[in-house]
Amino acid sequence: MLCRRQFTQLSAAAMASSVVASSCSTDNNSYGDAVSQIWRHTNIPPANEMALQRELVRYATLAASGHNTQCWKFQLEDRLISILPDLERRTPVVDPDDHHLYASLGCATENLVQAAKANGLESTVDLGAGESIKIHLEPAQAVSSPLFEAIPNRQSTRTDYDGQPLSNEELKQLEQTATGTGVNLMLLTDKQAMEKVLAYVIEGNTLQINDPAFVKELKTWVRFNEKEAVCKGDGLFTKSSGNPTLPQWLGNRLFGMLLSAESENEKYTHQLRSSAGIAIFVSDQETQAHWIEAGRCYQRFALQAEALDIRTAFLNQPVEVASLRPQFATSLGISDYRPDLVVRFGRGPKMPRSLRRPVGAVIV
Ligand SMILES: Cc1cc2nc3c(=O)[nH]c(=O)nc-3n(C[C@H](O)[C@H](O)[C@H](O)COP(=O)(O)O)c2cc1C
Repeated sequence: MLCRRQFTQLSAAAMASSVVASSCSTDNNSYGDAVSQIWRHTNIPPANEMALQRELVRYATLAASGHNTQCWKFQLEDRLISILPDLERRTPVVDPDDHHLYASLGCATENLVQAAKANGLESTVDLGAGESIKIHLEPAQAVSSPLFEAIPNRQSTRTDYDGQPLSNEELKQLEQTATGTGVNLMLLTDKQAMEKVLAYVIEGNTLQINDPAFVKELKTWVRFNEKEAVCKGDGLFTKSSGNPTLPQWLGNRLFGMLLSAESENEKYTHQLRSSAGIAIFVSDQETQAHWIEAGRCYQRFALQAEALDIRTAFLNQPVEVASLRPQFATSLGISDYRPDLVVRFGRGPKMPRSLRRPVGAVIV
C-alpha cells in the first residue's frame, strides 16, 4: 500500500509526462487519434493501486460537464479519491451559483463509482466534508454492469432524433436507474407537455443569445476546428453540435454574428419535436450535495440510455435563466422546487465526439 506522499510523488511524475503529451505543439495528434485514445475501455490492465486509481480518474473524466469545462480536480490517496471543483473553470454567466459545476462533479462521481465496481472496488461516497467529494474505496468482488460498459460510448447527441416513442419497458428502466436520494425524475412523453417545455427552451435561449455576456462566455469555450479541439482537450467542438469548422481567428470573429436566436430556436424546435421524451431532474433541496446527486442521476440516466442505444442531449435553457426558472417550475406543477436539469432523449445517429484533457492534467 502506498502512503499519501508516495502517491503524490508518483502522480506528479505521471502528470508531468501527460502535460507534455497534451501540449499544443503536438500537431500530428489528429482528432481521430485523440478520439480513439480518449473514448475507450482500459487497454493495459493497471499494474498497481495507483495505476488503477488513475484509470478510475480517466473514466470519471469521460463524464458530461457544462460547456465541457471539465471543472474537476482529483486527489489520490490510499483507498480514497477526492473530487474537487476547479474554480478556474467556472462559467459565472451561465452558472452564477455553480449549480452546473457541482452537477458536473456529480457526473464524474458516478462514472468513477461505476468503474470502481467493475474493477473490484466498492465505493462509499461522502459529500459531507467541505467542498470535496470523498470516494472511499474498499476491495470487493468485481461486478461489471451495462452502465460501466456504456461509459466510453455515451455522448451528448445534439442532432435530430427519429421521432419514434420508446417502449414502456425502456422508460421504466431509465426511470428506475436514474432516481436518486433526494432527486426525482419527471419523464414527459406527452406531446402537449413537451411543447410546453419547448416554449420555455425558446424563451430561455432567446434571452441567453441576446445577452452579450452569455455569448462572450460561450465563445471562450467553443473549439472551432479539430486542431483547436485537440490542443485544448476541452470545450465545445463545433462539429459535435453539427456546425462547420472554421479557422480559429475567423470563428472568433464571426461567432457573435453567426449565432442567431431565430435559427437556434428553429434547430431546438426540430430537435425537441424529434425526441421521444424529456427527462427533468428535480432535487428536494437547493444544496451543493443535491446538485451533485442530480448530476449522478443524470449520468446514470445517460449511461442506461446508451446501454439501450438511446441518445440524450441537454436543453437546460429553462433552468439556466434565473428569471425563467420559477415560471418553468410552476408550469411543471413543482413550484416549491428548483428543476435542476432538462434532457431530451430518443433514438438517432451519433455525432462527432467531444474531447478530454489527459488524466495528468486533472490530478493535483
Ligand atoms: C450540468 C450540465 C449542464 C449542461 N448543459 C447543457 C446545455 O444546456 N446544452 C447542451 O447542449 N449541453 C449541455 N451539457 C452537455 C455538455 O456540453 C457536454 O457534456 C460536454 O460538451 C461534453 O460532451 P459529452 O457529453 O458528449 O461528453 C451540460 C452538461 C452538464 C453536466
